[in-house]
Amino acid sequence: MKILKTVTGAVAAAAVSLFALSAAAQTYPQRNITMVVPFAAGGPTDTVARLVAESMSKDLGQQIIVENVGGAGGTLGAGRVAAADPDGYTVLLHHIGMATSATLYRKLAYNTLEAFDYVGLVTEVPMTILSRKTLETTDLKGLIEYAKANKDKVTVANAGIGAASHLCGMLFMSAIQTPLVTVPYKGTGPAMTDLLGGQVDIMCDQTTNTTKQIQGGTVKAYAVTTPKRLDVLPNVPTSAEAGLPNFEVGVWHGVYTPKGTPADVNERLSKSLQVALKDPNVAARFAELGTTPSSAEEGTPAALKAKLESEITRWKTVIEAAGQYAD
Ligand code: MLT
Repeated sequence: MKILKTVTGAVAAAAVSLFALSAAAQTYPQRNITMVVPFAAGGPTDTVARLVAESMSKDLGQQIIVENVGGAGGTLGAGRVAAADPDGYTVLLHHIGMATSATLYRKLAYNTLEAFDYVGLVTEVPMTILSRKTLETTDLKGLIEYAKANKDKVTVANAGIGAASHLCGMLFMSAIQTPLVTVPYKGTGPAMTDLLGGQVDIMCDQTTNTTKQIQGGTVKAYAVTTPKRLDVLPNVPTSAEAGLPNFEVGVWHGVYTPKGTPADVNERLSKSLQVALKDPNVAARFAELGTTPSSAEEGTPAALKAKLESEITRWKTVIEAAGQYAD
């Protein structure tokens, strides 16, 4: 009889916890949600996050508050979310750096493939190779010649090891076989301020942060890292056209929750993300900034999980070949 009681008790407990999970999801969200952006305010990740958060807030009926936690190429902000309560009230919006940091940092505060649950993909943003307006060069060939001739003084801005701007800069220096002086910031928002002021020479950054500056002529643009030219930047050649073949970098972004967040809460967040991806205002703003929303199918937990796993494998080989690590 005792065994039957134990089994019955276990089944009852399981039923209660399942009911509790779905009850949590049925009433979720009950309060504001924090969306951690692992870079400084005013940069490309922040821009994407605020557009998506605004649309998701309307769908969820609760405010998503963006919190910028910059530093260490995005790994400090990611670590904050990895350690947060898995209750659905802390989410992370991060990009390709989630995959590159898994190799670049041999002492991360979290295990990238074990510390997070998945909500979905958001967008894949092209990059642009820029210089300060006052640099004498007029095309990519000239920029490369100038960099090689002045390699000990030419400065390249990035948002820390693990950032998309770091990855693009690393690929650029590998492609021209010339190491340059790198200058790290907490985000390419502040880095852009210094580029505009002439305090730093070169930067590779996402169109979500560079389109308006390029259109305004306040920086020089040498290439876009896409197979075809961008409608919003018709006069900027692709990297292949500009003489840098096989130089394509797309900065994909995803939304994550701490591991252990109830599955149906992740699903509720994913459904809200998919509403945002179909929001005409989000699509219009993304288009103005040279990018497009991911599809609804990509806005699922499974799509983001698959993307992260494949990208960790892809970039591990490239990073190990470059031999550059954070620690
Ligand atoms: C940012 O939002 O500052 C950028 O995404 C940083 C980077 O990844 O280059």
